[in-house]
Amino acid sequence: MPDRNPLLLSRSSYYAPVPILAMDAEQSTVDFNIALRVLMDPDIEGARFQTVDLLMAKLRDRTEGDILPPLPWRLRGRAADAPGKSERDTKHSQIATGRCRYRSERFGWTDLRSTAVAFLDPAAGSAFGTTFYWEVLGVERNKEYWETLDWERRRQLIWESYAISYDRVLPILPFYQDVIARHVEAMRVPNIESVFDLGAGTGNVTVELLKNGHLVTALDLSRAMLEKLRHKTPEAYADNLTVVEQNAEELTQWDDNTFDGVSVLLAFYDMARPGRALSEAIRVLRPGGTIVITEPKRRFRLEPLLDEAERFLREKGVYDKLKADWDRVNVANKELDPAVREERLYAKEIEQYLREAGFENLRAKDSHLGNCATVWGTKSCRNRKSWAIGRLQRTSTRARDFL
Ligand SMILES: C[S@@+](CC[C@H](N)C(=O)[O-])C[C@H]1O[C@@H](n2cnc3c(N)ncnc32)[C@H](O)[C@@H]1O
Repeated sequence: MPDRNPLLLSRSSYYAPVPILAMDAEQSTVDFNIALRVLMDPDIEGARFQTVDLLMAKLRDRTEGDILPPLPWRLRGRAADAPGKSERDTKHSQIATGRCRYRSERFGWTDLRSTAVAFLDPAAGSAFGTTFYWEVLGVERNKEYWETLDWERRRQLIWESYAISYDRVLPILPFYQDVIARHVEAMRVPNIESVFDLGAGTGNVTVELLKNGHLVTALDLSRAMLEKLRHKTPEAYADNLTVVEQNAEELTQWDDNTFDGVSVLLAFYDMARPGRALSEAIRVLRPGGTIVITEPKRRFRLEPLLDEAERFLREKGVYDKLKADWDRVNVANKELDPAVREERLYAKEIEQYLREAGFENLRAKDSHLGNCATVWGTKSCRNRKSWAIGRLQRTSTRARDFL
């Protein structure tokens, strides 16, 4: 395992109420926390590992003042670009501050105090990275901002807890094994090389796809779930795997028609704008490519599923050994229950969207004891993209609200 990048945010910074961004010496965004994602959504999506300049260009029309305070230190590798500054200068200027206003798409104008702190390389005296903090001094839609931040942090903490036990319990359950096999099988068609696993979680579909020789991009919003995915992926497949921590609702860094296959296994149900994510998934799939999606049906009920899972664990004689894990899975599922979400995109609606978007060979099959369904098909090679997205946006169902 390579050493952890020292610029990655610690867990406490990740959950901090202050928006934080870490940048490396090449001025690329290495990491940012939940608070920054909430404040700068959707501008910030896709900004990881891109230059901070690109992000600033996106934010230009939304800011007054310097969103990044001018940095008085040299970045490592750039020393030669800054003649006249001695190594000593940089050692005494490790902090810079500024004030700015940012107009968030969701929360209106925010007053921010920005602080930049250098990570100095003690040997060279230049900075190998910089961390930016934005203290939120005021927000136009103050209550909404803090409530959203609170909700997002709780949500990630639930996934963090679920991640501990996910792979100890789910892979034992027959209905989960079946649906994984179905997603992997859907991609076993000629000319499917690259597959986008959206909401990849701990990687149970991803790893099987890798074993079948696919090149997989595994995307998920949960840092904890992806951590599990990274750890369990056999080293032999490392070169065929790209892991992206990001919201699936904004896939702006991928061009249209990029992937041969897209897989979404029970991830839309947890998204604020699942319709938007579906339209992005369709956009990045190439004509002739395969999409496979499993999501809850309209009559989804959590309790019978949990009852059956517990009965199965007992029958197998593993319940007592897994009691603590089972309790964690139970609690997480109740917190994440798709039936209580306001924004929903049911399997039937997905099938209908895909049909209207011109998908061919569309098939659907129940999963999770009839509570969910898998829908799969092929993107048409005729150019119906703009028509398809138009139809998606005009749809009369609630899906329109979260496109
Ligand atoms: C029930 S898990 C499924 C994981 C995996 N597909 C599997 O079948 O094991 C749902 C996953 O969706 C992810 N997720 C939820 N909202 C997301 C979003 N907006 N963008 C990306 N991933 C998201 C969660 O973090 C979680 O890992």
